[in-house]
Amino acid sequence: MRLKHTILATIAVSIINISCKDSTKREISMDEKVLSKTYQGESITHDFDAEIDALISQMTLEEKTGMLHGTSMFSTAGVERLGVPELKMADGPLGVREEISRDSWAPAGLDNDFATYYPAGGGLSATWNTELAYTFGFSVGEETRARDKDVLLSPAINIIRTPLGGRTYEYFTEDPFLNKKLTVPFVVGMQENDVAVCVKHYATNNQETNRDFVNVQIDERTLREIYLPAFKDAVVEAKAYSMMGAYNKFRGEYLCENGYMLNDVLRDEWGFEGIVISDWNAVHTSVNSLRSGLDIEMGTPKPFNEFYLADPLIDSIKVGKISEDEIDIHLKRIMQLMYTVKRMGANDRKKGIINTEAHFKDAYDIASESIVLLKNSNELLPIDASRIKSVAVIGNNAKKKNALGGFGAGVKTKREVTPLEGLQNRLPESVTINYAEGYQERYAPKKESVFGDVTQERVDTIDELDPKMLQDAIDTAKYSDITIIFAGSNRDFETEASDRADLELPFGQVELIKEVLKVNPNTIVVMIGGAPFDLGAIKEKSKALVWSWFNGSEGGNALADVLLGDVNPSGKLPWTMPKALNDSPAHATNSFPGDKSVTYEEGLLVGYRWFDTKNVEPLYPFGYGLSYTSFSIKNTKTDKNEYSNDDTILISLEVENTGEMDGKEIVQLYVSKSNSEVERAEKELKGFIKVMVTSGESKKVTLELPVKELAYYDVSQKAWTVEPGSYSLRIGNSSRNITSEVTINVK
Ligand code: BGC
Repeated sequence: MRLKHTILATIAVSIINISCKDSTKREISMDEKVLSKTYQGESITHDFDAEIDALISQMTLEEKTGMLHGTSMFSTAGVERLGVPELKMADGPLGVREEISRDSWAPAGLDNDFATYYPAGGGLSATWNTELAYTFGFSVGEETRARDKDVLLSPAINIIRTPLGGRTYEYFTEDPFLNKKLTVPFVVGMQENDVAVCVKHYATNNQETNRDFVNVQIDERTLREIYLPAFKDAVVEAKAYSMMGAYNKFRGEYLCENGYMLNDVLRDEWGFEGIVISDWNAVHTSVNSLRSGLDIEMGTPKPFNEFYLADPLIDSIKVGKISEDEIDIHLKRIMQLMYTVKRMGANDRKKGIINTEAHFKDAYDIASESIVLLKNSNELLPIDASRIKSVAVIGNNAKKKNALGGFGAGVKTKREVTPLEGLQNRLPESVTINYAEGYQERYAPKKESVFGDVTQERVDTIDELDPKMLQDAIDTAKYSDITIIFAGSNRDFETEASDRADLELPFGQVELIKEVLKVNPNTIVVMIGGAPFDLGAIKEKSKALVWSWFNGSEGGNALADVLLGDVNPSGKLPWTMPKALNDSPAHATNSFPGDKSVTYEEGLLVGYRWFDTKNVEPLYPFGYGLSYTSFSIKNTKTDKNEYSNDDTILISLEVENTGEMDGKEIVQLYVSKSNSEVERAEKELKGFIKVMVTSGESKKVTLELPVKELAYYDVSQKAWTVEPGSYSLRIGNSSRNITSEVTINVK
């Protein structure tokens, strides 16, 4: 059963229908009394500690160290004679990666390692739907089991500090609150399948440039308030069973040997009982890394016995640098995890399922709520298929698949519906589709590009259009009733291990879009990508602009359903789209990417916190997204005016659907504190709820805000402190569209 460990919050969010057009609608609404759930994971088991001690006491030194490091690309050794199995892992955030060879990165070449391709992190976070985060986690957890793995190297939850980040598409958001609210259900859902998550990359891995060694400097308050909350809740609330130590350094120490981050914060403060697995090749010492809190070293390509936790560790034990008792602590943790996920000690381990229609439906559900309508003047959208005879579909991205590509983990899948196929599936036969590629995905040899003091190789593109292809696209658009251009990027362009050089759209797409718009003003531009681009010119010229993501097996169907109005778009941006790169905080403060060291000069003011505090207008703000209907948020009230520290503020309001179509709105709660004794961002997200409202109806929503959420991290006290005084609670549907405000007082 899916909701085994999911606890329904008593009063988290209640929705009461207050006006209905007919009784059927009343019934639907009344069923939805509680929308928001809280999710709680199950702790690591200690039931088998005595057995584990007995097993450890029988192991040789070689057997012990074999369990502490990769002995294949994605597994550690077991001890067969004692019945201890290998610990088996797989990537990753987009679904269970294909099987990799045991001793190289080459695919194993199997024919039974297909999996569902789920929407990338950006897509999930744009849904702002915590229940879909649970669905995603649960679904991919079932696939992990079906592939007989113990640990899935997912979710990837680093904060999006710069729009250029190569892994922006994989990560969730620039905001710590949205991040933690999605991470917890994801982790809980996945681990309900007798598998472990590996939450990555712990922590402060916010850039790919120099990721192997860059020394990240962040002040303590910013670390606690921005970069750690989702990792913390993954441990404290969701009970994540493993974490991945990142590549980079933090305050001078590599993350895989960072005693402060691994022992002090993760274990001692948060009570983490799982294991820390290194990123692949992120370990630099034997004794120091173990003592600092690492449990397993993974990586390649050197021989596995040369890993730091292999022969060099044996040597260290032999010369007395570290005792066997210290090693045993790590073995015990690893086996506790194995018992918890029932790799050991049980015969009722879940078996999982994979590639099922139910899983493709999960991928579809996430994709269909992730698509963000950025612009829709003249109501070009949704397309009324009964009024057109032809549609021009233009762009390489109409046919491009993104399950695989670039550097890093992808998914080998039997199903990836492209945008063009989605339209073919959904448009009636009376509409002719005229396709023209328009631009080609063309790359130049990798180019060195200079960022501050750093020169690094980056993906380089050829941005000239082929004149004949351009002409074809123009002709196709000219003679079609409407045009849809599928533009944006792909996973070869946005990729792990390299940040982008700028916000430019590659392959000459801006010129193509401008030329097509000249001949067919009824042109819808659909961006497919995972990270912000400079869309200024396109926003100005096109009437309709849609943002979609690397959106999983069913991405094309979901997109077609939104374009044709079978699904009303309800996604909102999980990051700020800047007008110019230098408007973004890391760039405005000239503190990206640093050199050997990078200091996060913007401090707390990450993402919209910067734009709103400094009054910089973004191209599209955080939390922004339109609908085919319109909503009005009214009657915002709190249950009291004054609260104490342990209270929960109840904010009630009504969401009215004032348009013609049923739809979902995301009500966002931002908090501001004027006259604060400490630095504060202009506003901070502290609550949200996604609510379905049928056309013409109103729903009453109650948001729950624990006063503790108002705390800042007091560095001198090493504690979270709620400052007394007044706070403004601002309700809106983006960080820049605040429609009501209530002031409360904290004693
Ligand atoms: C990535 C990880 C990934 C690992 C194994 C590393 O390069 O940073 O996210 O899980 O490789 O593929």
